Amino acid sequence: MKNDGFKLYESDLLSQTTGETLRPGGFILTDLGVKNCNFSPGARVLDVGCGSGATVERLVSLYQLQAIGLDPSEVLLERGKKKHPCLQLIQGLGEDLPFPVNDMDGVFAECALSVMVDLDKALAEIFRVLKPGGWLVVNDVYARNPDALQLLQELKLDSCIRRALPKEQLMNKFVEQGFKIVNWSDHTNLLTQLTVNLIMTHGSMTKFWLKSSSCSGSVDPSLAQAAIKQAKMGYFQLIVQKDASCS
Ligand SMILES: C[S@@+](CC[C@H](N)C(=O)[O-])C[C@H]1O[C@@H](n2cnc3c(N)ncnc32)[C@H](O)[C@@H]1O
Repeated sequence: MKNDGFKLYESDLLSQTTGETLRPGGFILTDLGVKNCNFSPGARVLDVGCGSGATVERLVSLYQLQAIGLDPSEVLLERGKKKHPCLQLIQGLGEDLPFPVNDMDGVFAECALSVMVDLDKALAEIFRVLKPGGWLVVNDVYARNPDALQLLQELKLDSCIRRALPKEQLMNKFVEQGFKIVNWSDHTNLLTQLTVNLIMTHGSMTKFWLKSSSCSGSVDPSLAQAAIKQAKMGYFQLIVQKDASCS
């Protein structure tokens, strides 16, 4: 699968701080999502943009779900397969899911929708593969100041922050695809904690962005920090459902 450009989530810069998960809060929102959706043991669940499969491992071992991970990154999938050889981790794109209609009881997308090139297509695909009554759990970043979107989009960086959208715009995208909104909750405190942790690992956010820019040659630390600050970046969990009457 084509793999050009610097991808922050594939570098060690993030995982040195976050460990196996590549998102704010580790498993906190994963566990909250499982609890809210009340999955039965054996439920069939897909983690879209699974990275190296940490969530898939947890869904299988802690919750006895039949979980599958999908991700385009060879680097992250290889890392996951080495660590957890028994997990079902497959290469693919959220915009083109290799599963039939009405196949999944649930889908997780953790810090993954915001890195996808075609969000509408990915949501349509997730809707298609979910069973009627199936759940989608999204944990991701959002821009609390819609006026700063352009600054974010101009950053030459493949990370969650570049395609962050404001809450209203995001919610509309789910509704347009036919999802029923079940619950939105703000967890910006987890993003703040991640920033503190990154500063502890790297010395300062400027140093973190400088290291990123030495890998990519294209991230301007002052631009990245200014864009994030102006966008008032937040973090949320959104739980939506495919209506039980859909087929
Ligand atoms: C920030 S990482 C999050 C990984 C994992 N969900 C986690 O929270 O630890 C974003 C992930 O999305 C994956 N990704 C990028 N583009 C994608 C796409 N079009 N479809 C599915 N996953 C994608 C990346 O390879 C990466 O693993």
